[in-house]
Amino acid sequence: MRKPLIAGNWKMYTTLMDAVELASEIRRLTEQLRDVEIAVFPPFPFLVPVAAKLAGSRIGLGAQDCYVADKGAFTGAVSAPMLRSVGCRYILCGHSERRSVFGDSDATVAAKVRRTVDSGMTAVLCVGETAQERRSGQTSVVVGSQVKLGLAQVSAEEIRSNVVIAYEPVWAIGTGDTATPAMAQDVHAFIRETLAGLGTDTLASEMRILYGGSVKPDNVDGLMSCPDIDGALVGGASLEVKSFVRIAKFE
Ligand code: PGA
Repeated sequence: MRKPLIAGNWKMYTTLMDAVELASEIRRLTEQLRDVEIAVFPPFPFLVPVAAKLAGSRIGLGAQDCYVADKGAFTGAVSAPMLRSVGCRYILCGHSERRSVFGDSDATVAAKVRRTVDSGMTAVLCVGETAQERRSGQTSVVVGSQVKLGLAQVSAEEIRSNVVIAYEPVWAIGTGDTATPAMAQDVHAFIRETLAGLGTDTLASEMRILYGGSVKPDNVDGLMSCPDIDGALVGGASLEVKSFVRIAKFE
């Protein structure tokens, strides 16, 4: 059984006060939920205070990115071991904003996945096609290659135990224009097939594949009813306690 994961990507939003408040409210309002795993991805400076608010809870802490080396003269960069040391359990690798704004290539993403796993955390490998790629029928080619290249440096066993895939069509991120459950399910099933090609069948059947891109309280139930959708990576709606908690209580 794959336990659903509902993850909140706070991006470059929140102040220190907002972050701490958001974390405590999420904790308070989701304490009773047993059948879902919850994780939050605050901005780097707020990881430590948010970790303190979440201490002793089952909510996972994650970082939005990491650098490809563990330490060294890399001004401004933050490494996976550093993130592990402040209590992170997850790192987002290859979010579309990292790919498009910061130029992360598939090779860079693969190195980040490797560093995350080496540091004892779970990599959330984000993949997804642009509107143009979908229009020209390239969705499977793009997504399939992002999955394979992103996982190029980890073994089948590491993928099974330390990787979650997040399918986030670029055209759905932050646009309010979400994929229909049927569209998302198609790509999720294709990703699961691609994973089966990388290792044993158990690898594919045990791995969690999240959907991301304008997930909201009013569309989460339809998405979560699809057989291959195992959770959500939520941006905008994760900044509002009520929406995020409603998403975590999907039906
Ligand atoms: P969104 O962002 O929910 O605001 O579309 C999702 C994401 O970028 O992870």
